[in-house]
Amino acid sequence: MSPELSPIDRAKYIAARRSCDFVESGMRVGLGTGSTAAWMVRRLGERIRDEGLEIVGVPTSTRTADLARQLGIPVSTLDEVKWLDITIDGADEFDETLNLIKGGGGALLQEKIVATASDRMVVIADVEKEVRTLGAFPLPVETIPFGWQTTKALIEETLVNMDVLNRETTLRMNDDVPYVTDEGNYIIDLHLKRIGNARQVALVLNQIPGVVENGLFIDICDAVVIGRSDGSVEVR
Ligand code: 5RP
Repeated sequence: MSPELSPIDRAKYIAARRSCDFVESGMRVGLGTGSTAAWMVRRLGERIRDEGLEIVGVPTSTRTADLARQLGIPVSTLDEVKWLDITIDGADEFDETLNLIKGGGGALLQEKIVATASDRMVVIADVEKEVRTLGAFPLPVETIPFGWQTTKALIEETLVNMDVLNRETTLRMNDDVPYVTDEGNYIIDLHLKRIGNARQVALVLNQIPGVVENGLFIDICDAVVIGRSDGSVEVR
């Protein structure tokens, strides 16, 4: 039985559980970050306990690593395992070509590295995350703290040069101080509303000195498991 959940959490829960059917004993599994990914980690913990599933997990954040260890999931690093069979992670938005915005939870850098080092990336999401065009969700850009205001200004200038209409940028805060990622970096959120040329934006942002990585995942995701609050699930 599923726990008592709000409709949106129920949709996340359903998607997360279904995605675990892709995981088999012997696999090296990238473990995503966020509330949806946490349901997936819990389900894998259950399968280890109840079915004797044998996997090695590579977490994409300290949060996920802590949760996985608590649940008895053997945890390793990407440098130890080198390559993964599958990564399962949430997303903030996905479009019909399975391009994504990620990083709402601030873990986009490790998430992109781990997903790229996987045979298969499966995204788990509630149906509300599906969009026609990416960009309503603010695009996270991870930047090094040194000179972040200059980097922010360069990002804005770059957006002007690309004729992007909405180009408000904000430094992500945690209470009254800048939010700091697991890598010790800051996040600048770009409020673009609509990203017509996501591939180009992703490439150009990463050329700016000070930018470490952006939250556009282009041609990385292989499948999306979409959960709905009525309990139905679709794999696309
Ligand atoms: C973290 C992420 C998350 O996967 C994304 O923010 C979705 O989170 P949630 O499952 O809580 O809605 O990219 O960096």
